[in-house]
Amino acid sequence: MILETKDLHAAYGQSTILWGVDMQVARKQVTTIMGRNGVGKTTLMRTIMGLLKSAQGEIEFNDKAIQGMPTYKRVKSGIAYVPQGREIIPKLTVYENILIGTEALPSGPKTFDEEEIYALFPILKTFRNRMGGNLSGGQQQQLAIARALVGKPQLLILDEPTEGIQPSITLEIADVLKRLIAERDMSILLVEQKLDFAKILTDQYFIMDRGKVVRNFDKENADYEELKSYLSV
Ligand SMILES: Nc1ncnc2c1ncn2[C@@H]1O[C@H](COP(=O)(O)OP(=O)(O)OP(=O)(O)O)[C@@H](O)[C@H]1O
Ligand SMILES: [Mg+2]
Repeated sequence: MILETKDLHAAYGQSTILWGVDMQVARKQVTTIMGRNGVGKTTLMRTIMGLLKSAQGEIEFNDKAIQGMPTYKRVKSGIAYVPQGREIIPKLTVYENILIGTEALPSGPKTFDEEEIYALFPILKTFRNRMGGNLSGGQQQQLAIARALVGKPQLLILDEPTEGIQPSITLEIADVLKRLIAERDMSILLVEQKLDFAKILTDQYFIMDRGKVVRNFDKENADYEELKSYLSV
């Protein structure tokens, strides 16, 4: 396993959101967290990244406990996070936004192979010098993924990458993610509510309800009717 959470609890102030999450992400696979609005999917990702402190339980990355580690160290050790809503910087250019992702690299000059990135996302080459804020939602999502990739992560976390994006671009994104899994030594932890998109990529499903994992299955044994009963859409 590249990532594992054990009995993970987290709270916003007095309000406990995660009530003991047990979840595993296997190497070179796509693991998908599903569940309806407000069950704690984003809170789980934020806790894995250290943006929210865990209250109890463990987070292991490459078999090492990381729950006490600051966020920047988690990033440097190989976890990249594309947050829900993307959070690109509107007043920086596409190129400058991508460059930020190189801060995750261990040391040396912070550069990236532009052609390699533009081969994955050609639109970012066209818009290289345009302000990030002027891109469409789908293009911003591609930009956020590009920014994560230049840090050469072992684990890429994506929180609802298809939210508010037109279907043609979501298919392009699925293709890129498939290629990355095939060609690199990378694992993906995906949060998704759109089953059609999840099905293209997912090896292993974890379903959350009220701050816990209530079901998990691999793609061969997936009960999609049951899965749908845990989704809002
Ligand atoms: N900053 C915050 N402070 C207090 N409560 C919060 C905060 N962020 C989220 N919550 C609450 O935590 C619960 C879980 O929210 P979370 O964003 O993790 O859900 P989610 O599964 O990602 O939902 P969605 O599918 O809508 O993105 C919700 O009840 C939400 O209102
Ligand atoms: Mg969320």
